[in-house]
Amino acid sequence: MDTPSLTPLESDLLDTQSIVEFLSASTRQQLHDIHYFNVIDSTNVAAMQGIHQGRRHGHVYLAEQQTAGRGRRGREWISPFASNIYMSMVWQFNGRSDISALSLAVGVAVCRALQCLGITGVGLKWPNDILANGKKLGGVLLEMQGDPSHECHVVIGIGLNVLMADNHAALITQPWVDLTSLCDGARPSRNQLVAALLDALVTVLGEYKQGGFAVLKNAWLALDVYAGEEVMVQLGDDYIFGTASGVDDNGALRLHTSMGMQVFHGGEVSLRPKGAL
Ligand code: ATP
Ligand code: BTN
Repeated sequence: MDTPSLTPLESDLLDTQSIVEFLSASTRQQLHDIHYFNVIDSTNVAAMQGIHQGRRHGHVYLAEQQTAGRGRRGREWISPFASNIYMSMVWQFNGRSDISALSLAVGVAVCRALQCLGITGVGLKWPNDILANGKKLGGVLLEMQGDPSHECHVVIGIGLNVLMADNHAALITQPWVDLTSLCDGARPSRNQLVAALLDALVTVLGEYKQGGFAVLKNAWLALDVYAGEEVMVQLGDDYIFGTASGVDDNGALRLHTSMGMQVFHGGEVSLRPKGAL
């Protein structure tokens, strides 16, 4: 494994005791355990392995560094030591919940957590990106184990940039941003951030289990950074142009095209600004 290099956040290492102290009483009751790693391949991988070993609902995995952090469709997630947040949480769903819009709900939770800490100007790009000033601040990666029509466990992975050093940032293949630049240096500690994320996540997951995405849809639409914009949807080698028109009740992307309204579900679909071709 790589030897961790020193960063300005050495004095802001994650500390599970401190995180637990910041959590609300309700979240504390609903979580099972927080597993902390200095260096790991991927917190999502650890959480998936944990499920197979019996560590299921309410187990949280945090790491200072990931050596094989991953994004959607196996893309690399740049994860330097003690710089950002890499977190995965396992949550159980029964067949009554349609989890197809879960990554949108998690995005709402991330934005709410940041708003609670006084960080504004953060929005969402369908289906899994956290953006600020049009640049990528973080992302959500969900992985599932089990049968969603019966009972399943979802690994909810969240990556959030806190302070990205230039040498690591050079590896990122699109415009990016971190919380330190957004907050002009006056950002909360990473322990506060993790606790706020967990509080918001547990609350939103409760809402989602009760009422499905319908109860979170307006919150998502209010955070949609592409609403009304001219965009293109990439489907393999094909591009479909139109006006981004929010999402439907199932969290599918609505695109107003010359052929009428078209709806896209997750998977191999990517949303891009029109000029990105
Ligand atoms: P999509 O709309 O298909 O999800 P995407 O470009 O956001 O498109 P993802 O798979 O979600 O793709 O994320 C991978 C992208 O994120 C790559 O461009 C990668 O370079 C970039 N990336 C990797 N690490 C980071 C990071 N720490 N911060 C911001 N962006 C990152
Ligand atoms: C994306 O935008 O493509 C999603 C990025 C998700 C990154 C997080 S970091 C914690 C967890 N572990 C991973 O390997 N990926 C997710």
